[in-house]
Amino acid sequence: MPCTTTEGFNNEDLAVHGGPMNTSVMPAVSEQQILEIINRFQGKPGALLGILETVQESNPHKYLPEETLQLIAKHTGTPLSRIYSLTTFYSFFNLQPQGEHIILVCRGTACHTRGSRVLLEDLSCLLDCSAFLESGENTFTTKDKKFTIKTVACFGQCALAPVVSIDGVIYSRMTSARLKGIIEKLAKGGKKHE
Ligand code: FES
Repeated sequence: MPCTTTEGFNNEDLAVHGGPMNTSVMPAVSEQQILEIINRFQGKPGALLGILETVQESNPHKYLPEETLQLIAKHTGTPLSRIYSLTTFYSFFNLQPQGEHIILVCRGTACHTRGSRVLLEDLSCLLDCSAFLESGENTFTTKDKKFTIKTVACFGQCALAPVVSIDGVIYSRMTSARLKGIIEKLAKGGKKHE
């Protein structure tokens, strides 16, 4: 049964999640690359955070797989538990592969009051991931790795609520119809901006 919500989002309108699941092995950052990054940060303040961030950026799927964390722990002489506590404390670290496009939906009070919950419901319906909302998770990546949806606490732009960020671009006073238009364009390989 199609998932239809208040603004007429209908996941049968849009085949953004219809492609085959990407089962290829995710390319990781090599041990050699990790060593080079560690050397680059030697003696610098906040080196460990910088190493983790740079290694994550070097991964095509913008995340830190377990084997990568183990290599960083080994070559920096840092306990793995310390690495894990850092990567789970800071929200910009990802422990799962990220989608090609990152959509952040603000769930702060101002955005909630101005309809962010509906935006999130419509988006999850459109991308066929309603179960993620029900599960209480704050991040979801579509099976085809095309989109990652995340919720955030506040962008600090409450006067522009509801606020959504897509691939780093902030969109103010977002509506479901506008969001759908952007997703359609991205799904077809269009540019990030409207
Ligand atoms: S509550 Fe959404 S930007 Fe502040």
